[in-house]
Amino acid sequence: MNYDHAYHAGNFADVLKHTVLALCLNHLTRKPKPFFVLDTHAGQGRFDLAGPEAEKTGEARGGIFRLLEAPDLPEALAPYLAQVRRLGMVEGTLRRYPGSPLLARALMRPGDRLVAAELHPVHGESLARLMRGDRDTRIEARDGYEALKALVPPPERRGLVLIDPPFERTDEFTALERAVTALVGRWRAGTCVIWYPIKDEPAVRRFHQTLKDRLDVPTLIAELWVRPRFPPLKLNGTGLVILNPPYPLHTALPEVLPWLAGVLAEPGGGDWRLDWLIEERMGPCPG
Ligand SMILES: C[S@@+](CC[C@H](N)C(=O)[O-])C[C@H]1O[C@@H](n2cnc3c(N)ncnc32)[C@H](O)[C@@H]1O
Repeated sequence: MNYDHAYHAGNFADVLKHTVLALCLNHLTRKPKPFFVLDTHAGQGRFDLAGPEAEKTGEARGGIFRLLEAPDLPEALAPYLAQVRRLGMVEGTLRRYPGSPLLARALMRPGDRLVAAELHPVHGESLARLMRGDRDTRIEARDGYEALKALVPPPERRGLVLIDPPFERTDEFTALERAVTALVGRWRAGTCVIWYPIKDEPAVRRFHQTLKDRLDVPTLIAELWVRPRFPPLKLNGTGLVILNPPYPLHTALPEVLPWLAGVLAEPGGGDWRLDWLIEERMGPCPG
C-alpha cells in the first residue's frame, strides 16, 4: 500500500468526484429522514496544499485552483465549492483541501451517519484524529470491500456509498465488479458512486460492459478527459459510474461536464462524456 492521496488532492479527478459527491449529499438532505454514507477508501481526510507532496506534483494547480479563479461558474458547483472554501481557506488563500470524508461530513446533518474505511494505518490514524469527537462518524481500519459487505444495507435504508480505490492492484476493476454486483443484490435503492482512472480505455469499457450485463438499476457514466487520449500513459481522464443517480445529477452534469472540460483542459485535451449505462425507467426518484 504505497498510494498517498496527498500527491493528488484537489486535482481534476477530485474536482469531478467531489462535485458529484456534494450534489448527491445535498439531495439526500432534502428529506428529513436520516441517511447513511459509507466511504470505502476514505484517505486522510484533509490535505496540505502547500506541503511537499502537493508541491511536487502541482496537480491541484490544474484542478481546484483553476475553479477558484474561473468566471461564470455553473450553479451546480456551489455546494462543493462552498465547503472547499469553508474548510480550506486561510487568509484568502486555499491552503487545505478536504478529502471525501471531511467533505461528506460537512454536507451531512447531525444524526446522518458516516462510516469511513481506510486500510493504511497512518492515513487512518490521521483521519481518526481529524474526526475525533464527531459522534455520527466512525472510522474503521479495515478493507473497504469488507466494510461494504458488512455494513450495507444500512438500517436507515437511504444513503450513499463512495468507492474510490487507489487502483494499485491490477485486478481493481474485477474487485469493483464483484463488490457492486453484491451491493445491488442487497441494496437496490442505494446510490453508489464509483471512481476510476482512464488510462487503459479498453479495460474501462470492459468494466462498463460487465456492469451492464450484471446490473439492473439506473446507472450513469460521467467522464472527463483533460489530456488527449493518446498516448494512454498518464492519467488522461477520469470517470464515475453512478448507480441510482439522484435527480439533480441528471440536470447538473450536462452543464457541469463541458464546463469542467473547458476550464481543466491541458493543451490538446478537454473532452467529456455523459451516458446512461443502464437507462432509467419511469418511476420514483431514489432517495
Ligand atoms: C484515492 S485514495 C482516497 C481518496 C479519498 N476518497 C478522497 O476523495 O479524498 C484511496 C485510499 O484508499 C486506501 N486504501 C487502499 N486499499 C484499501 C482497502 N483495501 N480498503 C480501504 N482503503 C484502502 C489508501 O490508503 C488511500 O488512502
